[in-house]
Amino acid sequence: DVKSLIVKLETNKILSKEEFHTLLNHISDEDLLYLRERACITARKHFGNKIYIRGLIEFTNHCKNDCYYCGIRRSNENVHRYRLSEEDILKCADTGYLLGFRTFVLQGGEDGHYTDDYIVTLIKSIKEKYPDCAVTLSIGEKSYDSYKRYFEAGADRYLLRHETANKEHYQKLHPPSLSLDKRIQSLLNLKKIGFQVGAGFMVGSPYQRTENLVEDLLFLKELSPHMVGIGPFIPHHQTPFADKSQGSLRQTLLMLSIIRLMLPNVLLPATTALGTIHPDGREMGILSGANVVMPNLSPTSVRKDYELYDNKICTGDEAAECRYCLERRVNRIGYQLVVDRGDYKLSGN
Ligand code: SAM
Ligand code: FES
Repeated sequence: DVKSLIVKLETNKILSKEEFHTLLNHISDEDLLYLRERACITARKHFGNKIYIRGLIEFTNHCKNDCYYCGIRRSNENVHRYRLSEEDILKCADTGYLLGFRTFVLQGGEDGHYTDDYIVTLIKSIKEKYPDCAVTLSIGEKSYDSYKRYFEAGADRYLLRHETANKEHYQKLHPPSLSLDKRIQSLLNLKKIGFQVGAGFMVGSPYQRTENLVEDLLFLKELSPHMVGIGPFIPHHQTPFADKSQGSLRQTLLMLSIIRLMLPNVLLPATTALGTIHPDGREMGILSGANVVMPNLSPTSVRKDYELYDNKICTGDEAAECRYCLERRVNRIGYQLVVDRGDYKLSGN
């Protein structure tokens, strides 16, 4: 039965393809509560009641790609495009540092305006000013040599969701110019260079089947990344997927819990997308094994323009408001935000 599969998952940290399939398709509400509780206990074993914070700086919404799900895709002509200068970005970091952030995540579309030289200078400026902080990049697919230059400049981590581990599904979400092979090669390159690497996917993305989620789980186990970013797919009204339905809260919490049991010490955020589909989504994510939150540090003047999906939360809030809002939220459920880089730690498990 399903309950024994949950016990087996916690013990072995893996299930077979067939077992995952059964778990995903047949879990009852009661068993889901049990699974979430086990995931939460596992997270507490590794991180106590500490929640790591990452300051997200969305520095450009220009993108050369045309992913069918994404609100800032190249073909969306209704987006007001912006770019932050190095000075703007450093100001975000200044604000963030005072608010207790020790990790800055530089995220953006794939924007050729920012050459490798530019990115290298930017990383060096941040690391020079804030040597006690980690810099995470989330700027898509680049060559091995570019990644290497970023790492040598001092970047610590890299987020690059694999989006789906199934080739056919990958092509249903992306134009032919993008391929799963290239995505995976990029992740392997990042790992080889020495980054702490984050993979991940959207739960409930169009055309996703249970088999695909199982493939995602097996892929994650094999890659064994330091971070896993997952959140529900949410349609954006100006994309080809405008009429597709959004991913469910239940399935997202289920996937978070499974990932926590499978990769006990992985860094696992309760994402903004999760907070968007339910007012307490991020709290429920933490209570399913997540241990990271990523409040927004982008200037309020550009927040609304980084609209990956409809109704994104926090687009009107100052960095400080977001920070304290999240603090209240995690305190209410018995957790604490910490001033810490929150690096990946190897552990006995
Ligand atoms: N350009 C970089 C990249 O491709 O990795 C980073 C920015 S990209 C917008 C960050 C993530 O947003 C993607 O990996 C994707 O999973 C997520 N995302 C995009 N559109 C979304 C949507 N409609 N709903 C939920 N998540 C979405
Ligand atoms: Fe941004 Fe609550 S986290 S306002």
